[in-house]
Amino acid sequence: MILLTKVGKRYHDRPQPTLSEVDLRVPAGQFLFLTGPSGAGKTTLLRMLFAAESPTNGSVRVGGADLGRLKPSQLPLLRRKVGVIFQDFKLVGAKSVFENVALALRVAGGRGPDLVSRVEEVVAQVGLNGAAQARADTLSGGEQQRVAIARALVGRPPLLLADEPTGNLDPGTALEVMRLLVQAHAQGATVLVATHDPKLLGLVRGARVVRLAEGHLHEERP
Ligand SMILES: Nc1ncnc2c1ncn2[C@@H]1O[C@H](COP(=O)(O)OP(=O)(O)OP(=O)(O)O)[C@@H](O)[C@H]1O
Ligand SMILES: [Mg+2]
Repeated sequence: MILLTKVGKRYHDRPQPTLSEVDLRVPAGQFLFLTGPSGAGKTTLLRMLFAAESPTNGSVRVGGADLGRLKPSQLPLLRRKVGVIFQDFKLVGAKSVFENVALALRVAGGRGPDLVSRVEEVVAQVGLNGAAQARADTLSGGEQQRVAIARALVGRPPLLLADEPTGNLDPGTALEVMRLLVQAHAQGATVLVATHDPKLLGLVRGARVVRLAEGHLHEERP
């Protein structure tokens, strides 16, 4: 599903590379935690997996495609296969919760009653069925994060990338969010969660853990 080969990343204004010679193979259907201290490069690595960032060296392959060779016209197809849960992924504030989630299906050609029932199902899963018609910009931070999660899950993408998905949430809601990711994994998705919170790592039985430190990737729990 994912193959990183000798991936390096150097930001021009930094003396040290953020990533150097990172090799990582993630088979389809794996649940993987990417951990490491703040500034280790977790977000950078996740962003590379949907071509939001490009490596300085090495190659990044996702679902058989070499992202370094992707044509701009192939980008929408890649993005449809990857559900992303990032804290800086903004909702459309003036639109309802329902519309924000539905948008992700509409761009992939979803229409009609199937779209409505799928959106309602996912909005209920994240515990927001009472707020489906509320404007996104009237929700609390944690509620907005759950809308972002619903938006990532609604198209049942084969790959889910989550960057500190529980960062803004109270412990109960955080557990609920992890449960949704585990459920998507049980239904066949490959899931990558970046976090520096050691408490999350114990929540998913059988999950693999890799750690980034000083530019290098270490296998922590195979
Ligand atoms: N666009 C950028 N330009 C310059 N430096 C950057 C850029 N993006 C990230 N960096 C630097 O790369 C390093 C890794 O950042 P990154 O956000 O990937 O870390 P992280 O592991 O996700 O940290 P955190 O746990 O705090 O989210 C940091 O030193 C950061 O300042
Ligand atoms: Mg980060």
